[in-house]
Amino acid sequence: MKYLDINQIYCGDARVLLQHIRPESVALSVWSPPYHVGKDYEKSMTFDEWESLLTTVIQLHFKLLKPGGFLAINIADILCFKDELLPKIMAENVSRKKISLTREQVLETWSKHPGYSRKQIAEVLGCSEQTVDRRVNGNNVRGGKYTSQTRVKLAGDLLEKAAYDASLYLYDRRIWVKDPAWENSRWHTISYRAIDEFEYVYIFWKPGITIVDRSRLQKDEWINWGSRAVWNIASVRTNDNHEAKFPLELPRRLIQMLTDVGDTVLDCFIGSGTTAAAAIIKNRNYIGIDKEAQYVKLANKTCYDAFQNKVAIENRHEHMTTFAESISG
Ligand SMILES: C[S@@+](CC[C@H](N)C(=O)[O-])C[C@H]1O[C@@H](n2cnc3c(N)ncnc32)[C@H](O)[C@@H]1O
Repeated sequence: MKYLDINQIYCGDARVLLQHIRPESVALSVWSPPYHVGKDYEKSMTFDEWESLLTTVIQLHFKLLKPGGFLAINIADILCFKDELLPKIMAENVSRKKISLTREQVLETWSKHPGYSRKQIAEVLGCSEQTVDRRVNGNNVRGGKYTSQTRVKLAGDLLEKAAYDASLYLYDRRIWVKDPAWENSRWHTISYRAIDEFEYVYIFWKPGITIVDRSRLQKDEWINWGSRAVWNIASVRTNDNHEAKFPLELPRRLIQMLTDVGDTVLDCFIGSGTTAAAAIIKNRNYIGIDKEAQYVKLANKTCYDAFQNKVAIENRHEHMTTFAESISG
């Protein structure tokens, strides 16, 4: 069989292409799958189809992972699906503050201060940023678990079962805390349900010898995140070319902690190419897969930019070293 080459991004379905990865060649697989949290763009897949996709992809990992290697899955843990039989959640909103501010007043203030941010406009009007946003954009939290007749279910259990059935064992999990959700979106809740501003990284292990090398991280890195369950990393605000990017820092930490230079890192839901860029920065090899041609193109560009940046940094470093040597005689 001809296997997929390293340092390439492939277009196709993960369920097909994963079968073409060299057995026991991947030290770490890091990915964030499509979520099932009630977003509009998920409508093409039923819950059963979604579950089957994840189960198959996890199963295919057993063969391709090195013994002692890892699979790290980033996911929001609340799954949402329609259930017309669910008792309708009823609420009487008794203490909702009525703010007399009108949309026209907000717009008028903004026209007087065209360069002002939402925060500055809120300060001028003496209200919250959410109020400014709601007047201008009419937003409250909606979608996902805020939609009526939506049943919620935790994702971790389902992933753990799929992994266990594939002989991959839950090794650990980290909690990725983003910035407060309403800073990141335009929404504000009027129920007791939180606006989720965290996700999980579930780490599964393939039986085999795992190298535990404390020198992969500096002392301050162990203190700040290596030994910590909660990772505070701002989410990606500009989702202009892909709607669901994770921040580079997330795969970067996992790669640095769980692999060595020269190892191969896989992302079979590569999207904009973030995992590949992190692998390039850390001198690891990568394999990326996405079913959308437009994202494969985008991921290739991300890789190209990451290489260019790395070369520029290395050149600068070399220049500084030569300069330092020349002045020290
Ligand atoms: C949550 S996004 C990943 C985003 C990525 N982590 C980033 O930082 O850009 C999930 C990606 O999986 C891709 N995808 C969905 N189903 C797939 C499948 N069956 N095979 C391969 N890719 C798939 C989507 O096109 C999407 O780009």
